[in-house]
Amino acid sequence: MLRTPSAVRDAERHTAHNYHPLPVVISSAEGAWLTDVDGRRYLDCLAGYSALNFGHRHPKLIEAAHTQLDRLTLTSRAFIHDQFADFCRELAALCGKDLVLPMNTGAEAVETGIKVARKWGYQVKGVTPGQANIVVAEGNFHGRTTTIVSFSTDEDARADFGPYTPGFTVVPYGDLAALTAAIDENTVAVLLEPIQGEQGVVVPPEGYLPGVREVCTERNVLFIADEIQSGLGRTGATFACEQEGVVPDMYLLGKALGGGIVPVSAVAANADVLGVLKPGQHGSTFGGNPLACAVATEVVRLLATGEFQRRSAELGERLHAGLRGLVGKGLVAVRGRGLWAGLDIDPALMTGREACERLMERGVLAKDTHGSTIRLAPPLVITEEEIDHAVAQLAAVLAG
Ligand SMILES: Cc1ncc(COP(=O)(O)O)c(C=O)c1O
Repeated sequence: MLRTPSAVRDAERHTAHNYHPLPVVISSAEGAWLTDVDGRRYLDCLAGYSALNFGHRHPKLIEAAHTQLDRLTLTSRAFIHDQFADFCRELAALCGKDLVLPMNTGAEAVETGIKVARKWGYQVKGVTPGQANIVVAEGNFHGRTTTIVSFSTDEDARADFGPYTPGFTVVPYGDLAALTAAIDENTVAVLLEPIQGEQGVVVPPEGYLPGVREVCTERNVLFIADEIQSGLGRTGATFACEQEGVVPDMYLLGKALGGGIVPVSAVAANADVLGVLKPGQHGSTFGGNPLACAVATEVVRLLATGEFQRRSAELGERLHAGLRGLVGKGLVAVRGRGLWAGLDIDPALMTGREACERLMERGVLAKDTHGSTIRLAPPLVITEEEIDHAVAQLAAVLAG
């Protein structure tokens, strides 16, 4: 008898239903492959929303975690530990910035960025006290805290969670004129995803990000790039901004930084920006803990080789070529960069959820978003054959 049905029921019994997972119960994983409680194998084409860029249980990351578990796991930031300096120095170098501030989840990195930008606005730019505003984009996804959902345009994410945090101006994504018009003397930052992941892997029009960079510089506004999902190899470069020749004032990082083992996020910026924070003004008990730093330092070292960015760029070509071949055969559009793709399924055929369920039956796991869209974001260790396999399974699902 299969164990999955009762395991699915058990998983739901005492749980808030804030997710609608596929009915699959995973018990082990390696590289790009997952195994469920019934021993069935699945190709992971979501990679924990890019938290598993290096695949499941990458040997170097597991070794770093094991070694650290045997030495020291937590000190809090009240004391300094011996994994902290290397992590901060190496991540700062990877980002080309002076300083980093480690946190845990992506949402915390975003919150940190907002706080730093506001403080910078008051203390450095000279914004009128209490009047700082931040320009954000329609269709954004930056996390789930009350402040972050305050400027979400997704009603599911936002409705009934008010009263909302003021101080945000929402403009259409990709519209430079609208963004420029929204900046006033109290604007401290523009906060954008260089590619909107949750929205369906939406790539902005050419010239948009360089244009944002230019206007931010001209108007003395911080450009904050939320690279929590797009960064750390996913798009075929260390940062998606890099592919547009853009250097933001602040990077927000998360997901893959924790190597799929521990939640690690960080804000990276120069000293004139991050230096506004003084002791007692921001922090987190777990942020920058020894286990997190040990794993994340190894992540930074993996990225410093350039191998994963290269794989993502090269294999991404293959993935996108395969997917483009399905446009008109069940797909209406394909977007993305590197090993990251948003596919719009012909709504006349099936929903994104149905497509993901059928893919699951064929041993491929992916995730739908916004009705008829599917995101593919396989681990960057995926092989050519595995990409071809995923595309073939999708083709079979679309062919009915
Ligand atoms: C661009 C972006 N920012 C922030 C977040 C929030 O990260 P977390 O779920 O770790 O809080 C996400 C999560 O999907 C994201 O994609």
